[in-house]
Amino acid sequence: MSDPVTISFDRAAHLYDRTRGLPEEIQARAAELIVETTAATTSETRFFEHGIGSGRIALPLVRRGFDFTGVDVSVKMLEQLRANLEPQHAARLHLHTADIRALPFEHDSFDVAISAHVLHLVPEWEAALDELIRVLRPGGTLCYCHEPHDESGPTRSMDRKWKQILARLGHDASSPGAWGPQVIDTLTHLGDQVQRLQVGSWDRPITRAGLLVRYEHRTNSPEWSVPEALYQPALEELQDWASTKYPSPDEPLVDPGTFEIIFARFGAQSSAPH
Ligand SMILES: C[S@@+](CC[C@H](N)C(=O)[O-])C[C@H]1O[C@@H](n2cnc3c(N)ncnc32)[C@H](O)[C@@H]1O
Repeated sequence: MSDPVTISFDRAAHLYDRTRGLPEEIQARAAELIVETTAATTSETRFFEHGIGSGRIALPLVRRGFDFTGVDVSVKMLEQLRANLEPQHAARLHLHTADIRALPFEHDSFDVAISAHVLHLVPEWEAALDELIRVLRPGGTLCYCHEPHDESGPTRSMDRKWKQILARLGHDASSPGAWGPQVIDTLTHLGDQVQRLQVGSWDRPITRAGLLVRYEHRTNSPEWSVPEALYQPALEELQDWASTKYPSPDEPLVDPGTFEIIFARFGAQSSAPH
């Protein structure tokens, strides 16, 4: 590919489920909604997910008996996914190490294609979306999983502060690809029928100490590219800011979470026009 930047999650594989997991009922409801809305059947429907990771979205569908193919650049995330799945379901899960910008599949290979929390990582996200649509059969459905940011919550508030600190120190911490609103606009334009459905909302309990763990342990991808020389001064400034904003480290805070899925059906034409 022309752009060499690919954010593999090898370094986060051992802690991804702990730090980005969804409540079990939200995971189960997402699977249910996908099955209902796509009218999927275990005998016929071929599922595919690009950037499948450790299986937040895929696992409940595989456990329900569906045939599921996934690709990821991170060998360790795929190993974690295999470890997360009970052996009796393993034969239905087909995993490949591949870049989502150049998928190793024929046109029209799948009935349902899933994209969850990956296009913000890929500079050529339109090429990745185009590839996802290319491998979808005519009449198939693309499911875009979206977790809208609640700008008023403590997680976003701290992240805004972190980005401001880094920007002042000369580092741009924005993601290389596209976030939900931009992808949803594109799908609305490209899809034949587009439906946006709520999976659910929940409150995530968190504390100041818990919010800082992400930055102290560099668990999330935007922190991986921050130059070492900037990291410690930026972190100290963030810790000072957090101590003022949330004076007690263990005071219970609430971070609202929301999960929705955009279902885009693609008709006779199965590749995105450019
Ligand atoms: C944030 S995780 C999301 C995983 C899963 N879709 C989920 O919702 O839990 C993003 C995944 O995309 C993978 N990834 C990033 N860039 C990729 C690329 N260009 N090709 C394939 N996988 C990629 C990462 O290795 C990581 O496992």
